[in-house]
Amino acid sequence: MTQASALAIILAAGKGTRMKSDLPKVLHRLAGAPMLAHVLRAAQAAGIKRASLVVGPDMDEVGQAGLAVNPKLEIFIQPNQLGTADAVKAATPAFEGARGPVLVLYGDTPLLRAETLKAVLGELDAGADLVVIGFEAADPTGYGRLLFDEKGRLAGIREEKDASAAERALTLCNSGIMAFRSSEALAGLLSRIGNDNANGEYYLTDAVALARADGLQARIVLSNAEEVLGVNSRAELAVAEAVLQWRLRNAAMANGATLVAPETVFFSYDTAIGRDVTIEPNVTIGPGVTIDDGATIMSFCHLIASQIGPGATVGPFARLRPGAALAKNARVGNFVEIKNSQVAEGAKVNHLTYIGDARIGAKANIGAGTITCNYDGFAKHRTEIGAGAFIGSNSSLVAPVKIGDGAYIGSGSVITKDVPADALAVARPPQEERIGWAAKVRARRSRGKTK
Ligand code: UD1
Ligand code: CA
Repeated sequence: MTQASALAIILAAGKGTRMKSDLPKVLHRLAGAPMLAHVLRAAQAAGIKRASLVVGPDMDEVGQAGLAVNPKLEIFIQPNQLGTADAVKAATPAFEGARGPVLVLYGDTPLLRAETLKAVLGELDAGADLVVIGFEAADPTGYGRLLFDEKGRLAGIREEKDASAAERALTLCNSGIMAFRSSEALAGLLSRIGNDNANGEYYLTDAVALARADGLQARIVLSNAEEVLGVNSRAELAVAEAVLQWRLRNAAMANGATLVAPETVFFSYDTAIGRDVTIEPNVTIGPGVTIDDGATIMSFCHLIASQIGPGATVGPFARLRPGAALAKNARVGNFVEIKNSQVAEGAKVNHLTYIGDARIGAKANIGAGTITCNYDGFAKHRTEIGAGAFIGSNSSLVAPVKIGDGAYIGSGSVITKDVPADALAVARPPQEERIGWAAKVRARRSRGKTK
């Protein structure tokens, strides 16, 4: 298979000045993951085993982000940003002598799908020497235009700055993604690319005309415009985010989830959603969230790195922070925050509560306004709440502390010591009544007043 021997080179050395950011462009996030991660995952999903990344000097964080997705990623530094051909050249040690095809992907083209990459590899298998992914642009401004010969074969690519008026009127554009059948062909073409153009840059796009002059076959694979959107600005980042969100929403619905108002629900690239899950309007889901079959997320919830068990309900207005794990049929209600805590099967945390660094046993009931005081200003401490325990409303559980199975905490308690199973703990000042006090005070106060 072609893809098993293929190498993908991802170009990401550009400064991305149009982003007006201190963060390298390809680290800007889409659906919770850096743009670069999306490109690397698409290559992996297409079965491409080897990947190289070209970064600029002082772009260590870009390399780190790449390695987080693909630990075998080979990283090359392009010392000066002299153009896309020069960038590919920087990765020469990766493709020199390689047997399979070489694909060049851009780190700023994050919506590319694995299916399209497979189509490119298919064209190489079918005899093409060079393949370019092209698209029909509604507004081609800024893109290289694809040029064809009289027989309709791909003949070259013209960058906008170098294009004639007639060429600028063309709308079939270069996505930037290019594939070469062999590393020898690529090396031979690269060595002849010059920089005699408006930008004075070495353009990879010049490889097409050179290949044709060598009698090689160049073909295009067409993709839709949104899939190859190049992100150069914050506005384009927002457009890409919207495209990606719709892909994720459609995938969730196709797998059997109900999204009442899908346009108001925001997923992450890795959100895992089971069947018969219902997500109400206005929910934001960060990375690392799993929602099992039959769970319901009510409106205005914010979830990150959490697990929601089958049949569990969350919200409205709940916040699950990293490490929140709700078991089957657990309930987390309004204005509840849960962090790094396990909520066992059937347990209820229904109102106005903070649970941090805790374990809540099965069927325990946590009253309104309960707070686990997990932080003493220096360290975090754990709270253990046994199965079937009942925590009265407005209680503070000062960690580290253990509440035994079936124990009962009186409302308004500040619990600082462990409570044995099935015990009652009340830790609040006893109530005191003064019979007639209010009436006496009222009478005294009204005496001095004139009518
Ligand atoms: C490029 C293409 C253009 C295409 C468009 C699609 C060329 C010459 N032009 O233009 O035909 O329509 O993409 O989005 O290829 N990079 C480096 N080192 C460099 C220069 C660029 O690594 O020296 C990287 C960038 O980080 C980026 C990618 O290559 O990931 C593309 O560079 P960019 O400057 O964005 O090219 P465009 O002007 O968009
Ligand atoms: Ca670009």
